[in-house]
Amino acid sequence: MSSQENHPMVRTVASTQSEMTEIILPNDTNMLGNLLGGRLMHFIDVTGAMAAYRHARTHVVTASMDHIDFIQPVRLGDLVTLKSSVNRAFTSSMEVGVKVWAENTRTGAVSHVASAYLVFVAVDEHGRLQKVPQLKPETPDEMRRYEDALRRREHRVREKTRRTEAKLVTAALKDAGAIEP
Ligand SMILES: CC(C)(COP(=O)(O)OP(=O)(O)OC[C@H]1O[C@@H](n2cnc3c(N)ncnc32)[C@H](O)[C@@H]1OP(=O)(O)O)[C@@H](O)C(=O)NCCC(=O)NCCS
Repeated sequence: MSSQENHPMVRTVASTQSEMTEIILPNDTNMLGNLLGGRLMHFIDVTGAMAAYRHARTHVVTASMDHIDFIQPVRLGDLVTLKSSVNRAFTSSMEVGVKVWAENTRTGAVSHVASAYLVFVAVDEHGRLQKVPQLKPETPDEMRRYEDALRRREHRVREKTRRTEAKLVTAALKDAGAIEP
């Protein structure tokens, strides 16, 4: 395979699709026998990273997990399946969507239990930002997610700017003695 085939400038969403299935054991649950939210977030992070790795083909770090809906609890003994794919690639960052289903092993009933959006950033072994290939949405659903990802990115950028400005104002007020350090 040529280097161009290994590192194309554009990748499809299908080439990033990833999946993981876990069985929920007692160590993963709270006293009520429900899967701990933090454990589910770990599964989401890992499955999201798989899609990001497949797109970037370099190291990736999680920059944000900015939206998670916990729709219904996952029970001890359930099989949890997580599916991820890249929604949109920017310069060094990629938004990944992860959807989670739980399967009752006795009845076979499957329900959608959570969804999340994460941003991963491609870096080299020294932590320097790396450019990622662009993403080519092909189906109507992929195109919708591609468009929505841009709106969410704009919201994230606005939020980051707002937080940075708020920190600067607080630091200036502390320096001026207007508020307690
Ligand atoms: C993520 C990280 C590499 C960004 O580095 P940075 O110096 O802030 O980089 P920049 O501001 O130049 O942004 C680089 C890219 O990251 C994106 N980014 C930075 N912070 C982000 C955030 N909080 N949410 C989403 N995207 C973010 C930027 O939009 C930019 O994307 P683009 O290149 O596609 O336009 C850096 O903050 C980091 O290493 N964080 C820790 C990551 C980590 O340890 N994750 C595991 C947590 S347990």
